[in-house]
Amino acid sequence: MKILRGRVFDFLDEPQTPGDGSYRYIEDGAILLDQGRIVAVGDFAALDNGAEVIDHRPHLLMPGFIDTHNHFPQMQVIGSYGAQLLDWLNTYTFPAEMKFVDPEHAARIATAYFDEMLRNGTTTPVAYCSVHKTSAEAYFTAAAARNIRAIGGKVLMDRNAPEGLLDTPETGYDDSKALIEKWHGTGRALYAVTPRFAITSTPAQLEVAGALMAENPDCYMQTHLSENTDEIAYTLELYPDFRDYLGIYDHYGLLGPRALMGHSIHLSEREVALMRETRSVAVFCPTSNLFIGSGLFDERRMQENGVRMALATDIGGGTSYSMLRTLDEAYKVCQLQNRNLPPLRAFYMLTLGNARALGLEAEIGTLAAGSEADIVVLDARATPAMALRMETVETLPEELFVLQTLGDDRSVVQTYVAGRAML
Ligand code: GUN
Ligand code: ZN
Repeated sequence: MKILRGRVFDFLDEPQTPGDGSYRYIEDGAILLDQGRIVAVGDFAALDNGAEVIDHRPHLLMPGFIDTHNHFPQMQVIGSYGAQLLDWLNTYTFPAEMKFVDPEHAARIATAYFDEMLRNGTTTPVAYCSVHKTSAEAYFTAAAARNIRAIGGKVLMDRNAPEGLLDTPETGYDDSKALIEKWHGTGRALYAVTPRFAITSTPAQLEVAGALMAENPDCYMQTHLSENTDEIAYTLELYPDFRDYLGIYDHYGLLGPRALMGHSIHLSEREVALMRETRSVAVFCPTSNLFIGSGLFDERRMQENGVRMALATDIGGGTSYSMLRTLDEAYKVCQLQNRNLPPLRAFYMLTLGNARALGLEAEIGTLAAGSEADIVVLDARATPAMALRMETVETLPEELFVLQTLGDDRSVVQTYVAGRAML
């Protein structure tokens, strides 16, 4: 048993209006931990029971961040110059992913990946691995070694990529099935069936993805949707019988509350309605959408139409592992559309919002008693510029906005995974 002491902050619900009681903040707070779980949260004076105290004052104690879409084999692709989606994939990304046929390379990058996630305060990543079964083995093995609640899956892709990156409907099915049997629900791991996108899967392979979801309905399904206009045009050439992009995934039985639809930028009215009806999740990847020049995610439209949303880095199209940097860019994407992203809503998205998008809010995303003890310790004065700015700050939302605008890995003082300090 141990106690973390500091300024405790988490969400009880989605913030709607100021003062709506959607969050909890305890100035001299404490989190009591035992056996990897949160036992109690409250005033330090009330919880001080003689257990070891780790004093994190004056820092904020929050639920660990959740990154709902990224690509672990793309760590060496970040910051690749001058291309939009389809060229970027062919020029930089596919060659980098080919290297993951080598289990040693996959293991080295998987270790670096989880180190980097934790340095940035992210305790639950949702990752695409490469097409190679060994890459998913490396991912889940590295997560298990640190007891991280990680979600991921081997990419399914059987066309429109180099030979060394292709599976077949049959091998894709067999490898995914074996990985699900071995890893889904093992320790803290969960599996995501991962057809990369319609361009790189034949109809036969999307059928296989649908079969895997029908056989394993509590797995996730992750793919890319309407990120780039050239991508959409090419997709509809490959699937001429379909009226829109989302209709393809719908036809193969891939939509539903566990479907994570990366990007979801250029959607028709019908597609937005279908996202809502199927309760599929639109995943907002701001640093990637800006860097690859894909477009502006319409957060207001999703909210007004009742579409579930999540936020993500999309490493390595994205340019930062930090969910704080991601919030900074999300704010700017909203600003360009005359929309605000208030700091309370922003931090809700990183924690309880993303947990709800994954249906994992009973396990992660809050500091509720019984939750898994994944916790990030944040310092809003981490740099001289932040410390100077903080001199003028009087309220918690203002402090959060400093973290959201100026913060990065330097603001992460400590990250706890199932109660264990990882930095
Ligand atoms: N669409 C298909 N594959 C990818 C990928 O790896 N990254 C991004 N951003 N979009 C994709
Ligand atoms: Zn992606």
